[in-house]
Amino acid sequence: MECKNTVWSEFVEVGLPVIDMQHKRLFDLAASFRGQGDQIRVMKTLVALCDYANTHLREEEVMLRSIDYPALAEHKQQHAHFRQMLRELLEDSRKITLDQIAERVEVLINGWFYQHIMKDDAGYVPAVNACDIGFAAGR
Ligand SMILES: [Fe+2]
Ligand SMILES: [Fe+2]
Repeated sequence: MECKNTVWSEFVEVGLPVIDMQHKRLFDLAASFRGQGDQIRVMKTLVALCDYANTHLREEEVMLRSIDYPALAEHKQQHAHFRQMLRELLEDSRKITLDQIAERVEVLINGWFYQHIMKDDAGYVPAVNACDIGFAAGR
């Protein structure tokens, strides 16, 4: 089944406040590409998006390592794939139009990243909640 690109909503939350805040920030950055045509601003936002994505992926990996998450290697592979796609978009961004950049951001964040959250990130939540490391909800 083909999934549509998804905008941020409570439905995307996994229930870990720090992680949800980071995910939402990436969706907010992606949303800011819509309907703007200023090249400098688009490029600055793209760099900010890639930087923040890398920060989030790194912090998530540190968290998962700290709980000895059994599927960490597979999760890191998914992140490596995402980093690679972001790098390719950054490289291509000088050769493509602003509309094309916005389209690719949407595919990456509202498509790929959304599905990663719902499938892979949601999968580690029980393991994080089982460990008292300060990421769990309700504190
Ligand atoms: Fe992840
Ligand atoms: Fe994540």
